[in-house]
Amino acid sequence: MNDYSYEDYRKLVEDHLTDFLPDIDHKCITLYDAMKYSLMAGGKRIRPVLLLAACDFCGGNIQEALPYACAIEYIHTYTLIHDDLPCMDDDDLRRGIPTNHKVYGEAVATLAGDGLQSAAFETLHRDMLLYFDDPDSLKKRVGAAYEISKGSGCQGVVSGQIADMEAENRNCSQEMLDFIHINKTAALITAAVRAGARLGDPTTQMLADLTHYAENLGLAFQICDDILDVVGDEKEMGKRTGADMQSSKATYPALYGLENSRKRLAELTDAAVEALSPYYDNAQLFTSLAHEMAVRGK
Ligand code: IPE
Ligand code: IPE
Ligand code: MG
Ligand code: MG
Ligand code: MG
Repeated sequence: MNDYSYEDYRKLVEDHLTDFLPDIDHKCITLYDAMKYSLMAGGKRIRPVLLLAACDFCGGNIQEALPYACAIEYIHTYTLIHDDLPCMDDDDLRRGIPTNHKVYGEAVATLAGDGLQSAAFETLHRDMLLYFDDPDSLKKRVGAAYEISKGSGCQGVVSGQIADMEAENRNCSQEMLDFIHINKTAALITAAVRAGARLGDPTTQMLADLTHYAENLGLAFQICDDILDVVGDEKEMGKRTGADMQSSKATYPALYGLENSRKRLAELTDAAVEALSPYYDNAQLFTSLAHEMAVRGK
């Protein structure tokens, strides 16, 4: 296992983030420009970092995991571009700069999202093709690609996003709110951790513990995002605050108030940390990440 910090993994991702994008004909250079505009605008890179850290934790090779790490960031960036569109959350600021559609227009922004999503799956399949004569390595890669596909689709982000839209201006049960948050956000975070783990050699117990960690962290992540939408600093976050209340979104603070939201954030953080307690210092990156997030939401 490498003794990498969050920043080490983040830098590795940053250095290779455009490596796996397809060659795009100069005749549609606008597409490439728009895709790169949002991709290279910064961002915490939490999903690819988690993927690499989980791979490392399970004894995998992080250089070989880079296509998977970058693919999940392509998918995440596409979800942000589409999430900001006027037909969805209608936001003007993302990652500290104007949203994709504000610069390129709605049609190009939609296609830039489509381009990033398909680039992710092209990246995964290109890598799998390299391992056709090595069944053990291929099996790990198919497993990782499956996790990413599932988390980003109709059992993950897409179903969470439609439930989020449909819950606007409506009464929302606790069960429905958790459904939204688990799908729109926790699913891709869980996919990152499980995909990374499957690129290594996890025991059944390790995979279960990492999954438990990621599910709790993922839900905590969206609750923290909801809290910061109320109390956060727009400059620091690089996106508009106060937007959820304006759109009557179903969020934790809207349903339960700030204090109860913070309580739930703390409970989920404890559960995430507890899931990896058998691994002591080996799980430090994961546990520190959970603690740091809880502090941001305080
Ligand atoms: C924002 O995700 C969307 C949510 C799921 C809350 P991040 O907070 O990871 O955004 P970036 O990638 O750092 O910009
Ligand atoms: C977005 O949730 C989740 C995604 C799938 C992109 P939000 O709509 O709360 O994310 P922000 O606050 O715009 O980043
Ligand atoms: Mg949204
Ligand atoms: Mg949004
Ligand atoms: Mg939000």
